[in-house]
Amino acid sequence: MSSCLIAPSILSANFARLGEEVDNVLKAGADWVHFDVMDNHYVPNLTIGPLVCEALRKHGVTAPIDVHLMVKPVDRIVPDFAKAGATLISFHPEASEHVHRTVQLIKANGCQAGLVLNPATPVEVLDYVLPELDLVLLMSVNPGFGGQAFIPSALDKLKRVRERIDRLGKDIRLEIDGGVKADNIREIAAAGADTFVAGSAIFNAPDYATVIAQMRAEVAA
Ligand code: DX5
Ligand code: ZN
Repeated sequence: MSSCLIAPSILSANFARLGEEVDNVLKAGADWVHFDVMDNHYVPNLTIGPLVCEALRKHGVTAPIDVHLMVKPVDRIVPDFAKAGATLISFHPEASEHVHRTVQLIKANGCQAGLVLNPATPVEVLDYVLPELDLVLLMSVNPGFGGQAFIPSALDKLKRVRERIDRLGKDIRLEIDGGVKADNIREIAAAGADTFVAGSAIFNAPDYATVIAQMRAEVAA
């Protein structure tokens, strides 16, 4: 399995000083910046768009920006995020009329492509598209808010998606998003995740470096 990557969700950061928050969490050992985009339509919350992604790049952020689109429609915002400096763009199949086309669109715009499975989305949605993907993002909460509790059925689903990725033998990351904490990350890693989104667990902690180090130690244990 690939190395462990920690992707703090800036949804739980202090937006009044976002650049500084991102600098601090990267200095504290984070690998990616997880960027949650919500439209008050596909999900019941409204957050940030390409302007903020671009602002982070102009601020000097060079780490991968992992854009998680919770928007409908998807396609028309993809080129904007690519221009704004996104590294990866993931989307929900329920929000796209043509999943395969959206994957190709993301790649044609120079980004890596990810598909996001909600807690109730069957893994079969990956059947014809997995070989095209760079990442599968499994939601372990219903999308829309930070700070929710991890839904335990995500563990079994992780195992099933891990099997599919391993069977295919391609370098596809398996990312988990929602309710990830230092005290459950070990079993999440054991179930097959290699990339870990954590929002409240990191940004609500007094010291980002300590909690990121704890998470890595748990994954390695
Ligand atoms: C939820 C978002 C998550 C969320 C994770 O829709 O996709 O990235 O911010 O937050 P925590 O880690 O607090 O569950
Ligand atoms: Zn997310």
